Amino acid sequence: MDPAAHQSALHPAGPIADTLLGLTGWLTWGAVLIFLGVMALLAWAMRRRAAREPNEARDRSHARWLLFGGGVLFPVVVLSALFVYSIRNAPPWREIPPSDALVIGVTGHMWWWDVRYRDPASGREFSTANEIRIPTGRPIYLGLSSGDVIHSFWVPALGGKMDMLPGRMQHLLLQAATPGVYRGQCAEFCGEQHARMALHVVAMPPDEFDRWLAAQALPAPPPATAELVRGRDAFVANRCGACHTVRGVTEESRLGPDLTHLGGRLHLGAGQLPMSVQALTEWIGSVQRIKPGARMPSSEHRLDPQTLNSIALWLAHRP
Ligand code: CUA
Repeated sequence: MDPAAHQSALHPAGPIADTLLGLTGWLTWGAVLIFLGVMALLAWAMRRRAAREPNEARDRSHARWLLFGGGVLFPVVVLSALFVYSIRNAPPWREIPPSDALVIGVTGHMWWWDVRYRDPASGREFSTANEIRIPTGRPIYLGLSSGDVIHSFWVPALGGKMDMLPGRMQHLLLQAATPGVYRGQCAEFCGEQHARMALHVVAMPPDEFDRWLAAQALPAPPPATAELVRGRDAFVANRCGACHTVRGVTEESRLGPDLTHLGGRLHLGAGQLPMSVQALTEWIGSVQRIKPGARMPSSEHRLDPQTLNSIALWLAHRP
């Protein structure tokens, strides 16, 4: 795990995670206080009972009071207060996005994340994967779904947790107050590589984000050197495009992550390796050793090291 990316609900990095931490604090400390109070009452009652003569009528009245006061009245008061508090303070669940929100679609797959944006300038939609870039200081409205089994979206430092269900769209609000990298993790067991289904949210200043979004919406530029041409041709010839899209080079296929601007991402394989040409070469060659069961076959037995390397070089050079 990347030590620079933090993943903790106890260190919130935005207003929504702040609210959730406040709610957690009330629930936890409230429960501790009530537990200690009940234990103190119990100790007090046991001592008194030992010191007093038995009296059936009095004990019955105490038992009635205990049942009504402790069993009905107290829980009703406490739970009603908590209900009102959480309704007033919990982060809003919205059926439609708030007017100032940025809408991003995220689809869970075994075991990676498809992230879909719409470029406001061109109106063009495009995908990226395993990394969500967002502007700071603005609510992010996520539309969450799944392409196969149930996954769950959770970036603890920025907001709550939401299941991703096949055939259904769920919503979740996130917000980051400061720029940074926040790690998330699939939070619903989804098969063999559930534990290796990480994602990173990169929060950027709004103007930087706008530039990033405009650049991401563009197709891949033509390769500028002979080495890069070799890489692109090998990618096409070996039918990598059957699963992966590189916009401007292959037809759209959404079986695997969109690789158009792969080089600009921080990680490979849903948070498995830090991005570099060497890591990418290793990944393409022996993905089944790094992430056994992943839907991509290892290519080391059918491609020679030089071909692997030139594909990696071509994929990784584009931010
Ligand atoms: Cu996806 Cu666990």
